[in-house]
Amino acid sequence: IVVDPFDYVVFGATGDLARRKLLPALYHRDLDGQIPEEARIIGVSRRPQSDKAYREMVKEALEAYLKPEELDRKVVAKFLARIRYVGADATTDAGWADLATTLEEGKERIRAFYLATSPDLFGPICEQIGKHNLITEKTRVVVEKPLGKNLKSARATNDAVGRIFAEEQIYRIDHYLGKETVQNLMALRFANALFEPLWNSAHIEHVQITVAESLGVEGRGDYYDTSGALRDMVQNHILQLLCLVAMEPPSSMDADAVRDEKLKVLKSLKPIDTREVNNCTVRGQYKSGVDRAGVVPAYLDEVSNKQSRTETFVAIKAEVNNWRWAGVPFYLRTGKRLATRVSEIIVSFKAIPHSIFDGEEGVPANELVIRLQPDEGVKLWLMIKDPGPGGMRLKRVALDMSFAAAFKVRNPDAYERLLLDVIRGNATLFMRRDEVEQAWTWIDPILDAWAASDKPPKPYMAGSWGPDEARDLIRIGNPAREWHEKSLTME
Ligand code: BG6
Repeated sequence: IVVDPFDYVVFGATGDLARRKLLPALYHRDLDGQIPEEARIIGVSRRPQSDKAYREMVKEALEAYLKPEELDRKVVAKFLARIRYVGADATTDAGWADLATTLEEGKERIRAFYLATSPDLFGPICEQIGKHNLITEKTRVVVEKPLGKNLKSARATNDAVGRIFAEEQIYRIDHYLGKETVQNLMALRFANALFEPLWNSAHIEHVQITVAESLGVEGRGDYYDTSGALRDMVQNHILQLLCLVAMEPPSSMDADAVRDEKLKVLKSLKPIDTREVNNCTVRGQYKSGVDRAGVVPAYLDEVSNKQSRTETFVAIKAEVNNWRWAGVPFYLRTGKRLATRVSEIIVSFKAIPHSIFDGEEGVPANELVIRLQPDEGVKLWLMIKDPGPGGMRLKRVALDMSFAAAFKVRNPDAYERLLLDVIRGNATLFMRRDEVEQAWTWIDPILDAWAASDKPPKPYMAGSWGPDEARDLIRIGNPAREWHEKSLTME
């Protein structure tokens, strides 16, 4: 379905995010015929250059980040014709009159400002947008993470954007919410009668959320070193996943209905303070190790601060203190340079109360595995009788739905969905201000407790599953509990 005509104004137009994600995503939507004829993409960054020169850069980005078979010559030409470029400086008036003139031509269209810049420019850019009267009735602004380094700076960023734009005009992107399987989590929970009656502490033993990456910090070392895994992945992506698993059924898919429920989950998170931090968190930093590609360097060899205590791995035992989840631990884990790249959510049900099968004590519990990436799919682990005449022996098998096998369609990148949701005015998959700040409210005490501790992060070998202490963490209270490394390697 074609969306309404728009002007997408991308600040940070020559940056990595624009080239790697935003432009290829918009191109794909064009390829699928969702972008109307008159829509334009207006790149803005400080350096002056012609439309022609910027188009050349866009073309190179498409060629670099898309597969050759995705490039259709005609669509590429059509896409490039939509591109304009304006050189404007966020901190001075230079170039803003040109941007105003360029936008004037499309003043009836939906106008979306995408701030793909460093967050300290969000405030100055918004101010200039306000000052130059670039906000029409159909204007929205999209902001990218990191939204703050802690609650205080998140508030300052939100205030700066909020001075110019109303909350309904602000789209805070968490690209995990645009992933197909993340949206599928809502379908799985709320379009099936099967799971919801079991979705509580009476039937669920624990939940695991893993976002493991095999890559290291990939040339972003100096940014990453000021952030670390807790800020980079947990405050946003992982807490958003936790919210979708734990929230009550919203009354509809309306943005505020969904966001109200997510906020309640964030407010129910049990605080982890200095006393709790050692029982509930493990932070790690990778040493040199060997992965599939060979020997890889240690984190400290990749960043300039050789004394850095930044964590590249974190495991957390979180608890949601409400009626539904009381007593059910949520184990969260993420890290760089782990054994493989995989993101999954595992809902581990309680074991049967009593086994009637001779010699079959300790029957493994059912598990629901929601695999976000790679090879997206859903698996439900069940017990069956091992086939054959050998008596009543039990076997664990999975009802396995791989999305790639079930649907022969390309899996769109998260940004494709989100970029057009902005144009459609659908904020369901974006974060509201109170959610972001509530997430920081939970994260801040952990950061403070770590900062106050004299202990460095635990070392782990690149290519491993993180420090051994993470294994100990999940076993507290139930020695049989394990992280799902077996399912991670697809058994
Ligand atoms: C980003 C983080 O938000 O998400 C990166 O800043 C991380 O450090 C990335 O690598 C992971 O995203 P994806 O979609 O590749 O899982």
